[in-house]
Amino acid sequence: MSLIEDLTWRYATKKMNGQRIPADKLAYILEAARLAPSSSGLQPYKILVISDPALLAKVKEVAFQQSQITDCSHLLVFAAWDGYSEARITRVFNYLTDERGLPRETMDDYKQTILAMYEPLGTEWQAHHAAKQSYIAFALAIAAAAEQRVDATPIEGFDNARLDALLHLTGSGYRSTVLLPLGYRAEEGDWLVKLKKVRTPQADFITELTLADVAAPEDKPLPVASQH
Ligand SMILES: Cc1cc2nc3c(=O)[nH]c(=O)nc-3n(C[C@H](O)[C@H](O)[C@H](O)COP(=O)(O)O)c2cc1C
Repeated sequence: MSLIEDLTWRYATKKMNGQRIPADKLAYILEAARLAPSSSGLQPYKILVISDPALLAKVKEVAFQQSQITDCSHLLVFAAWDGYSEARITRVFNYLTDERGLPRETMDDYKQTILAMYEPLGTEWQAHHAAKQSYIAFALAIAAAAEQRVDATPIEGFDNARLDALLHLTGSGYRSTVLLPLGYRAEEGDWLVKLKKVRTPQADFITELTLADVAAPEDKPLPVASQH
């Protein structure tokens, strides 16, 4: 199996059958997410795992009644830091240096550099930056699920504020970013399962550049821009 085969197999499952996924497959998917790269290695996010049917029913209410929320085996809720702070960054770097057997001061200069960079940008920018990092882990979880032949539906269609209140994330320093129900597709009733996977053609998606392309006057459109 290749990654391309896995990504071709997967689709945003619209109807799941309620079957549970084995514990080892869940652990594999979570581990792929944990191993995701992140800016400065801060991993400013975590994953909440929900399989309690009563709680899933409540989550569905704030997610436009999307059926995958209650018909999945496990729901992954990605939640990211609501901002950067010296204390948070210090905790991460202390752990890093301790794990590597290095003096904690090793990261001091770098820590001051990123704090000086992030602080003036404000809390909303920081929360957005942290949320973007969580999507990298989210994407790897999607790919790992496909490799394990576990179905998954990326879900942004939910009310973040209401979900945060429901899960007691409000005021915790974390905000929900995106959801990933994991499970198995239903035999019947999924309108998407037989439809062709459609993506932007490669010719429109990929543009090779040389120095000559960017050395031209700035008002000359790049090759890709001229197609639109
Ligand atoms: C960030 C993100 C949010 C999405 N939100 C939803 C959603 O709320 N509900 C849903 O059914 N599909 C959702 N999708 C699925 C997309 O519509 C789907 O991935 C896209 O149309 C491509 O189809 P495919 O994943 O089946 O190849 C979301 C996908 C992403 C990446």
